[in-house]
Amino acid sequence: MAALAERLIEVVPFAAPLGAEIRGADLAHLDDSTFAAIKQAWLERKVLRLRGQRIDDDALADFSRRFGKLDKAPITRTGRPHEPTRPEVTVISNIVVNGEPIGGLGAGEAEWHTDMSYNEVPPDASVLYGIEVPEGHGNTWFCDMEAALAALPAAMRERIAGLTCKHDATRNSAGELRAGFRESYTPEELPGALHPLVRTHPETGRKSLFLGRRRNAHVMGLPQEESQRLLDELWAFATKPEFTWVQQWKTGDVLIWDNRCVMHRRDPFDASLRRLMHRTQIQGSRPY
Ligand code: OGA
Ligand code: MN
Repeated sequence: MAALAERLIEVVPFAAPLGAEIRGADLAHLDDSTFAAIKQAWLERKVLRLRGQRIDDDALADFSRRFGKLDKAPITRTGRPHEPTRPEVTVISNIVVNGEPIGGLGAGEAEWHTDMSYNEVPPDASVLYGIEVPEGHGNTWFCDMEAALAALPAAMRERIAGLTCKHDATRNSAGELRAGFRESYTPEELPGALHPLVRTHPETGRKSLFLGRRRNAHVMGLPQEESQRLLDELWAFATKPEFTWVQQWKTGDVLIWDNRCVMHRRDPFDASLRRLMHRTQIQGSRPY
């Protein structure tokens, strides 16, 4: 059966250290052997794109569940879910209806991050479906944290081995304060999770830098200034262009990325354009 799937889908790697396009798969009608081929390509390339998909929330959730149990969408600015009947669907949009944003992240920049890394058990994967997309605007960038770690000078790799970092839970990547949190905290009090700076991928066994989010990050056990200097250096290194690939969206694109070994960010776009995406996030395991 694997041979059949190989004939049916085509994996076209992008000219970057990560990312590939899957051609010939319809996510609404996927058999097990095709899924197995997609999963294999995903573990190898870390980010996959499938164009021309037409799926509703049921099909998005059914496809996503093939990777594992779904996590609930993150806490919004208001504390109310954007899709109350669908707690597992995260709405990413700048559209405002009756004065209320229908989704998160607006039209501004979304800074480099890994989804929900402020949780003790962050999601393995995110699946993002472009329902209504202004073509040529709001590109989404990915960087390969396994390639970044491999290229890091040996002295730096030794320095960060065994260090853990605090990941801020209070704001999303667009800087929006989530419901239930204060404006500011001391580094010790800051709500969030502690994770190793280098994590091992439980499925591939390979190691990646795990930085998560820069805002309010703190390397445990280091004085504030030293922590900031170290993080600035790691972030500047990890997000160098040679480790990145950029997604230029079309309506109907589905992206699947591996939060264990990539980070992503989004360019700001003209707020008068409409952009609507639905995302699911697949439950992971505690980083080690
Ligand atoms: C996300 C995200 C980027 C975008 O869905 O997790 O960061 O392109 N979105 O809107
Ligand atoms: Mn994100």
